[in-house]
Amino acid sequence: MKILVTGGAGFIGSNFIHQILQQYPGDEIVNYDLLTYAGNLENLKRVEDDSRYSFVQGDICNREALQDAARGVDAIVHFAAESHVDRSIYSSDEFLQTNIIGTQTVIDVVRELQIPKLVHISTDEVYGDVKAPEKSHENSRIYPSSPYSAAKAGSDMLVIAAIRTHQVPAMITRGSNNYGPFQFPEKIIPLFITNAMTDNYLPLYDGGTQIRDWLYVADHCSGIDTVLRKGKIGEIYNIGAEQYPEITNEQLTHMILELVGKEKHLIKPVQGLRPGHDQRYSLNAAKLRALGWQPSVTIEEGLKRTVQWYQENQDWWERVKSGAYQEYYKKHYR
Ligand SMILES: NC(=O)c1ccc[n+]([C@@H]2O[C@H](COP(=O)([O-])OP(=O)(O)OC[C@H]3O[C@@H](n4cnc5c(N)ncnc54)[C@H](O)[C@@H]3O)[C@@H](O)[C@H]2O)c1
Repeated sequence: MKILVTGGAGFIGSNFIHQILQQYPGDEIVNYDLLTYAGNLENLKRVEDDSRYSFVQGDICNREALQDAARGVDAIVHFAAESHVDRSIYSSDEFLQTNIIGTQTVIDVVRELQIPKLVHISTDEVYGDVKAPEKSHENSRIYPSSPYSAAKAGSDMLVIAAIRTHQVPAMITRGSNNYGPFQFPEKIIPLFITNAMTDNYLPLYDGGTQIRDWLYVADHCSGIDTVLRKGKIGEIYNIGAEQYPEITNEQLTHMILELVGKEKHLIKPVQGLRPGHDQRYSLNAAKLRALGWQPSVTIEEGLKRTVQWYQENQDWWERVKSGAYQEYYKKHYR
């Protein structure tokens, strides 16, 4: 299968490319990525000489360039997005442009070139806050809380409309919060690991009571691959670890400190509910499990692997942290 991956230089996209090339010797990948602050070709060093892999720098909003890159592919797996909640609150323009206009352009190109399959990568954040003990099903209410999740919800709606209006052969995945190798250290797990490694504070918001359904990135990628190969056109699939018992951000922080070997005094409590951040997410992933998928990594094992990866790849995250990210980091975390 020849797959065009949008946003393949980002966190999940690069993990997906590694996994596909490793698992399917006959597959080919075209990675189409604009290389925004979150895109990092260093994530793909290991495959850049693989003849089955090619990279095209381009914007998903650029129809002609996307068409050129997508000619002849069997599927598009669409990861490209602006993906950080806090950034979307500071400024939402790029979120609307990439997540909404960009997704419509991807849909148009799928139609124009008659590409047999589109997998649109969405998020459990489109469901908004979920009260315990409820879980979000694929047909649960869409109730986003931030410009990021609203723009993702908007992109889902465009894909659904394209399926209904034009019978576009699309599917949607809604994954829960990911962690693992190559995650930009603005998100909580890599931020806390790298801060702990360098004896910097871990800013823990609102007592750390928030709950996420943490999904190891390799499990998310295998879920997306299951949808790509076995999913039913027109359907939506949740991808969540369905952790039980659930863990709070405070528990997560303690686990990270223990794995890095640092003391709890590094935790810096920050008060005041963060705007746009939900208290709890929880997914029901039974529909995807019925296709034969299941998560393979527990949170304990996944965190252990992730801490080890950041310890062994200090060069990677130091280069990321020393760039424009540093300015953003100071502004946001003071
Ligand atoms: N990170 C998570 O926990 C999570 C969970 C569920 C779903 N998702 C979804 O998965 C997808 C990937 O998330 P991620 O965490 O890997 O994001 P990321 O921010 O690490 O990567 C996004 C990639 O998209 C590229 N990109 C941005 N704008 C572009 C444009 N206009 N044209 C082409 N490329 C562009 C960036 O350069 C980057 O490489 C997103 O759609 C996100 O909403 C993420």
